[in-house]
Amino acid sequence: MSLLFADKTILLGVCGSVAAYRACELASQLTQQGATVLTAMTESAQRLVCPASFEAVAGQPVITEMFALCVQPGVEHIAVAQRADLFLIAPATANILAKAAHGIADDWLSTTLLATRAPVLFAPAMNTAMYTHPATQANVAQLRARGALFVGPASGNLACGDTGIGRLADRDDILDAVAIALHSEKDFAGKRVLITSGPNYEPIDPVRFIGNRSSGKMGRALALEALRRGAQVCVVSGPADTKPPAAAEIVYAATAAQMHDAVMARADQSDVILAAAAVADFRVEKISEQKIKRNDNALRLTLVPNPDIIAAAAAQKRPGCKVVGFAAESHDIVANADKKLRRKNLDMIVANTISGEKDAIGADKGEAWILLPDTQPESLGYIDKTLLAQHVFDRIARLA
Ligand SMILES: Cc1cc2nc3c(=O)[nH]c(=O)nc-3n(C[C@H](O)[C@H](O)[C@H](O)COP(=O)(O)O)c2cc1C
Repeated sequence: MSLLFADKTILLGVCGSVAAYRACELASQLTQQGATVLTAMTESAQRLVCPASFEAVAGQPVITEMFALCVQPGVEHIAVAQRADLFLIAPATANILAKAAHGIADDWLSTTLLATRAPVLFAPAMNTAMYTHPATQANVAQLRARGALFVGPASGNLACGDTGIGRLADRDDILDAVAIALHSEKDFAGKRVLITSGPNYEPIDPVRFIGNRSSGKMGRALALEALRRGAQVCVVSGPADTKPPAAAEIVYAATAAQMHDAVMARADQSDVILAAAAVADFRVEKISEQKIKRNDNALRLTLVPNPDIIAAAAAQKRPGCKVVGFAAESHDIVANADKKLRRKNLDMIVANTISGEKDAIGADKGEAWILLPDTQPESLGYIDKTLLAQHVFDRIARLA
């Protein structure tokens, strides 16, 4: 269960878009991750998807009309307006954007939107011509100016056969936007946070490479936590399985040399640098231009050291910038991490174990310690990476 949605009440407003069926998956994910999801469907939405689907995945009655004869006290519109931590309108039609922008309250959802003071997050979905129409654009601008939040729409193939902007944002991008909107304490607002994430692939020939098992999950958790706390985030990502949050700037860098260049180009504009990538310490000296053919002899590759990215960033950091390293160790974990902290002149290091049952590489959890130059190492135990990211930013916030 993600810790980001636990104990939160989310009103999911579903409108009459062809993407309405995708809101079922959102309701399901939010519920599985600990949120109480109250779903309200417009009349048009109910023509496209059956309310019973939402009832089944969220385990809550679905609100379908304003003047129901027996309104349960918990789902009466003023009660929901006051109770919800967040209103997520997904998919949001051109119609609901227009009604919300102009304060029209002619059904349950639009009326409750007026009555709430909770954050409102719109995930628009519509045909490109409808989205780019000056009326819709003016409505979006007006809602933004009033503090409403938006995720998407994305570009791509639309149900009507067109290609362009208007697709409902991807599920994970909407879930990230919900996590960001639910966190009200923006203590990193105005800060620029640079994060390295994932593995490096060091080429041997046109198809082969030397890589490692890093998934990019730690980098993703750090990026999302920085975004939740209001920072402007750039992720320099290796070829990881896990996609960084879409709300971050993402720079892809496959090799350690490319990652080094991407980090050094941004280091002097950063307030915090976190090096969570599993950087390749060595690269192949001579990459074969042609595919190396199989034969019966041993293949000898000469490996040469790669640039030390975190040491270079720490050496050239601007005054006040905090540089945080990660040490993945198979033995003498805390002692080795402590040496790295001092040798590379870091402000903080997070030590992880990469062997045995508590192996952090590729996993959602890992055994972790936080080390600072002048205090005793702190053991965080076997901890979820989402929670570890929260601890890391709590500590950075306290660094002088
Ligand atoms: C099959 C179908 C798909 C539709 N898809 C969309 C859509 O993706 N976005 C949109 O803004 N309107 C779409 N509409 C039009 C809306 O349903 C219509 O504007 C309606 O009045 C919206 O009402 P609501 O905002 O109360 O749900 C669609 C209509 C139909 C029949």
